[in-house]
Amino acid sequence: MKKVAQFKLNDGFTLPSIGLGTAGIEGAKGIPKILSALDLGYRLIDTSTNYDNEGMVGEAIKRSKIPREDIIVSSKLPGKAHEYDKAITMIQESLFRLGLDYFDKYLIHWPLPKQDQYVEAWQALIDAQKFGLIKTIGVSNFLEEHLERIIDETGVTPASNQIERHPYFNNKPLVETNKRLGILTEAWSPFGRELNDILEDETIKDIAEKHGKSIPQIILRWNYENGILTVAKSTAPNNQLSNLDIFDFQLSNEDKDKIDKLDKGEDGRVNGQHPNEYEEFQ
Ligand SMILES: NC(=O)c1ccc[n+]([C@@H]2O[C@H](COP(=O)([O-])OP(=O)(O)OC[C@H]3O[C@@H](n4cnc5c(N)ncnc54)[C@H](OP(=O)(O)O)[C@@H]3O)[C@@H](O)[C@H]2O)c1
Repeated sequence: MKKVAQFKLNDGFTLPSIGLGTAGIEGAKGIPKILSALDLGYRLIDTSTNYDNEGMVGEAIKRSKIPREDIIVSSKLPGKAHEYDKAITMIQESLFRLGLDYFDKYLIHWPLPKQDQYVEAWQALIDAQKFGLIKTIGVSNFLEEHLERIIDETGVTPASNQIERHPYFNNKPLVETNKRLGILTEAWSPFGRELNDILEDETIKDIAEKHGKSIPQIILRWNYENGILTVAKSTAPNNQLSNLDIFDFQLSNEDKDKIDKLDKGEDGRVNGQHPNEYEEFQ
């Protein structure tokens, strides 16, 4: 079983630096994929109400021989439940679907600023944590203004912010904002979600060949050395395994500069999902 380096959060909670993404892993055929990841050493599973797979993830956890307390389960609040009472009910419903009595980690999926209810959604997560329903609370796709507002209005800083980040959209200013506020950055779609050709990029390929590693391993290491947790989806056991095998080499500053320079700004987003514009309610 692969050992994965950990990151410490601002609330004292500890997370593995690599988690398993589960978007698109669904139904009964998803169960062996989660079980294989758990067997190989993944201990952080990232799901969401929006992925329609919380039941499947819960079933895999139930079938796994790994004790519940050793697995970190993370889900996300959908846009339709930002209203305070709806948020509390949604967290309870998600737990029933998973067959669990607490979340290790729970995030607001999108800020939906046009709806303007993310502050009460955040208050619901703060209270759900007090009720014992969640251990560590965070957000996803929150920009600087959203982060500052929830901190100002509730006095509670999120432990993590899960944002789009890959070499073609490195989201550096938001990564710096998270760092300044003491929030751990989590990177979603690190390999471009099959929507771009990052996994064939010549610059990263050269760096990978130099280190005797693969392109995904270089991306994972680039995040790790920047203090960023990567949420990487992989269904193939050989990919799942190699994505954990990144703790025996180091990138040079020159390697990291070259990867940073691949950024394409707003044009680099995999699906044009700007958090001030993008709306998703499920
Ligand atoms: N918070 C948000 O708004 C948000 C948005 C998007 C995603 N996410 C989270 O982030 C996770 C990851 O993002 P994503 O699912 O969009 O995609 P991704 O992780 O960027 O890419 C997944 C693709 O990369 C391939 N891959 C993985 N490891 C590989 C390897 N070592 N070699 C070759 N190919 C490899 C996978 O193939 P195989 O399956 O064949 O291994 C799959 O086709 C999601 O699953 C979800 O949990 C969150």
